[in-house]
Amino acid sequence: MRISIIGTGYVGLTTGAALASLGHQVRGFDINQGLIEALVESRLPFYEPGLTELVAAQGAAGRLSFSNEIVQAGAEAELVFICVGTPPATVEGMPDVSQVEKSLEMIATALTPRTVVVLKSTVPIGTGDKAALILSRKSGGLLPPGNVAVNPEFLREGTALEDFFHPDRVVLGVRGDLSRNRLLELYGWAKAPLVLTDRRTAEAIKYIANAFLATKISFANEVARVCASLEVSAVDVLQAIGLDRRIGPDFLEPGVGFGGSCLPKDLAALIFTARSVGLEPVLLEAVEAINRTQPEWVVEQMERALFRIPDDARETVGSARVAVWGLSFKPGTDDTRSSPALELVDSLVMRGHEVITYDPLARLPETAEAEGRERLCPRAGDPYAAVRGADALILATAWPEFKRIDWRRVRRLMSGVSPVVVDGRNALEPALLLSFGFVYVGVGRVGRAEWGRTGEGDGNVPCHRRGRFHRLTPGREAGGLGPQSGGSG
Ligand code: UGA
Repeated sequence: MRISIIGTGYVGLTTGAALASLGHQVRGFDINQGLIEALVESRLPFYEPGLTELVAAQGAAGRLSFSNEIVQAGAEAELVFICVGTPPATVEGMPDVSQVEKSLEMIATALTPRTVVVLKSTVPIGTGDKAALILSRKSGGLLPPGNVAVNPEFLREGTALEDFFHPDRVVLGVRGDLSRNRLLELYGWAKAPLVLTDRRTAEAIKYIANAFLATKISFANEVARVCASLEVSAVDVLQAIGLDRRIGPDFLEPGVGFGGSCLPKDLAALIFTARSVGLEPVLLEAVEAINRTQPEWVVEQMERALFRIPDDARETVGSARVAVWGLSFKPGTDDTRSSPALELVDSLVMRGHEVITYDPLARLPETAEAEGRERLCPRAGDPYAAVRGADALILATAWPEFKRIDWRRVRRLMSGVSPVVVDGRNALEPALLLSFGFVYVGVGRVGRAEWGRTGEGDGNVPCHRRGRFHRLTPGREAGGLGPQSGGSG
């Protein structure tokens, strides 16, 4: 098929390159002239594993090309995918669909009655119906309303190509035979359920899928907070409940919270949508509130361990030099949009701590005007430089390189007798850190099952490492913690 992609950002480029590799003739369009010039030379403005190579290969094979002549996009294609951004427009969460509207207006003058326009951008419920009206009006009635479809994307940054080629499901919001048949033909290769539905339902599925993932994460983080005060390993609890097929193990990992350009934005948009129809979405609001406060809660756990503040005391004392490892919202990307690591840095600075950061790829925003004064703190060139003289270290993003760290060297570089390491992603080996004299603080990892007597017997092996034998160790029995370890989350 001849396919046009409007918007060559992360979603558009992944979709375009992947469809080209399936043998389609794809052209990517964007109003950003500089971006198009870079893409023609296979230079991508962001990092996504495997994508640069795929774009280059498909370009060389003559199946993928780029242009900024958006008005031509509809004239030359059987399918036009709209993949432009829909950023949050208001603090209440209403998404800004102006880029979608502008794209529709640009393509409307050069369509054929057989063009099918597909919304892939994440859009508020009802946008597909409005798009059909806009295109019909602007094309002088040429395009039938049924030629507009909604096909939401479920791509994760860092595994976008893998997700495209191995979807859990493909959602097709269609009206009429032409868009239905064309999309069924396009996705005929997918070994996954094809969910055929109407446009509004397809739009809702996208928001509600991300809101549910967000709910699981906030649930895990609230469980971590509750369990911390009870000396129960939340991680073991969550792994155990995840063995129930009705619950499932994914997205139940407690940490510093969820971020990125999707989960926070889509959750906010769903809350906005619910309020706009007169509802008070209390569950979704709680999910958002837990996530908003999670970075600060992690900072509090650090302070409790560092200044030996008892669990029942509220006040904080002193300030410290704190190294933060990881700025991106998750490993494998340089994306810091809504990253909880940045909230954590802000929280540390606001509470009077001196902060130095390190991330293998991501950078803090360059200007105070752009992103807020608090985040402008020094960035080290490597993880060891960041911890020099630090009283505490917080791991905020689980980059693989943090698992290969020379802890003896870190221990020598950090200050104090028992420097604190806060493992904000539960990515480190507690026993190893304790053996070097660190105070280890995980999230929901009171984890005596994790770090007591490692390598011995079977009673202390965490449940997920025990193959089919999921025997859990009662958290309070294993013991073996250092003198300050009780402050761990
Ligand atoms: C998310 C969804 O997972 C995709 O299915 C969806 O297509 C995409 O949004 C989108 O709407 O475009 P993504 O934003 O790339 O993908 O990130 P995720 O991998 O979902 O991670 C989101 C955040 O949750 C990260 O900050 C991650 O560290 C955090 N997380 C994830 C946890 O804190 N705990 C978990 O158990 C899982």
